[in-house]
Amino acid sequence: MTAGKSADSPFSSPSMIDPFGRAVTYLRVSVTDRCDFRCVYCMAEDMTFLPKREVLSLEELDRLCTAFIEKGVRKLRLTGGEPLVRKNIMSLIRSLGRHIETGALEELTVTTNGSQLAKLAGELYDSGVRRINVSLDTLDEQRFKAITRWGDLGKVLEGMQAAREAGLQLKINMVALKGVNEHEIIPMMEWAHDQGYDLTLIETMPLGEIDGDRTDQYLPLSLVRSRLAERFTLDDIPYKTGGPARYMQVKETGGRMGFITPMTHNFCESCNRVRVTCTGQLYMCLGQDDMADLRAPLRASEGNELLHAAIDEAIGRKPKGHDFVIDRRTKQPAVSRHMSVTGG
Ligand code: GTP
Ligand code: 5AD
Ligand code: SF4
Repeated sequence: MTAGKSADSPFSSPSMIDPFGRAVTYLRVSVTDRCDFRCVYCMAEDMTFLPKREVLSLEELDRLCTAFIEKGVRKLRLTGGEPLVRKNIMSLIRSLGRHIETGALEELTVTTNGSQLAKLAGELYDSGVRRINVSLDTLDEQRFKAITRWGDLGKVLEGMQAAREAGLQLKINMVALKGVNEHEIIPMMEWAHDQGYDLTLIETMPLGEIDGDRTDQYLPLSLVRSRLAERFTLDDIPYKTGGPARYMQVKETGGRMGFITPMTHNFCESCNRVRVTCTGQLYMCLGQDDMADLRAPLRASEGNELLHAAIDEAIGRKPKGHDFVIDRRTKQPAVSRHMSVTGG
């Protein structure tokens, strides 16, 4: 399938179809590279963040997201860094909520570390957000400190509770780390399901220089799944959230468990997403360096003609997939930028 030209919009195609026939309908926008945590697999403790002038304004982010929605994006996720620490972020989220009201957008959501939820959960719901993903790797206070360096577990748990009370559906993202939190997978699953949260496990990916060695932390989820299957009845289910997780129903807990396996089971063939950084760089793949600058066309004129053309050109070179490897011989990360730049 190739992208056709729309009659009323001579400069852009109505939908974004990449060279492998995949329709791009999911946009992840990192609204800030800053974060109030320093998770060990994501950042070095001593990070240099972007100067403010490099970062798109909230108005520019709104315009950019809206341009993507005009081009067929149906699901929009704000990420970071930590999206909810950006100043006045709720004004952007409230504004983007108009696309939920008109039906142009099916889902508006965030991936958050939970630190600001106690304060913002109600407003998120009122803006049209219905489901959020919270990153939580452990329920042990000491370990939480060791993993996030700067985080406060109590505050995150309080935030999650507030989110649930506000009517938001929650999914927990847990990066599975060998020798760190692997023995907590079962207790976390039981706790999450008891609270009514889905739990998704993620394989750690080689993005950006971190202080430790990733080979030591990498835990293949194929192994986790077979261990889980010794104690629980796991049924593969067709449940889909638009992201890369494959889900199963756990009979004993009655809850859902997701697996995101970029390392052991590549899901690139069904990739439906692209990412924009807070400086307006469009990354066509999380695991590749190629990107297109959208800030220049965005700022060059008030109309969206140049922007649409730049998006089309970039989608035309979306790569087939990533080349992640984690082994002792490969010391360099697959891509040099940190996860906090593209937001997962
Ligand atoms: P839903 O399916 O809507 O719940 O969300 P999601 O899984 O798309 O979003 P979330 O922010 O929870 O992402 C979870 C993690 O999945 C990300 O942080 C990445 O680690 C991983 N991930 C998401 N998309 C991709 C992708 O295209 N490639 C790779 N390698 N990993 C991805
Ligand atoms: N590998 C896998 N997941 C990561 N995350 C951050 N860094 C990595 C990494 N190197 C996860 C966070 C969060 C999501 C946005 O990405 O835990 O859930
Ligand atoms: Fe912050 Fe998320 Fe990175 Fe942790 S994983 S440092 S919470 S951006």
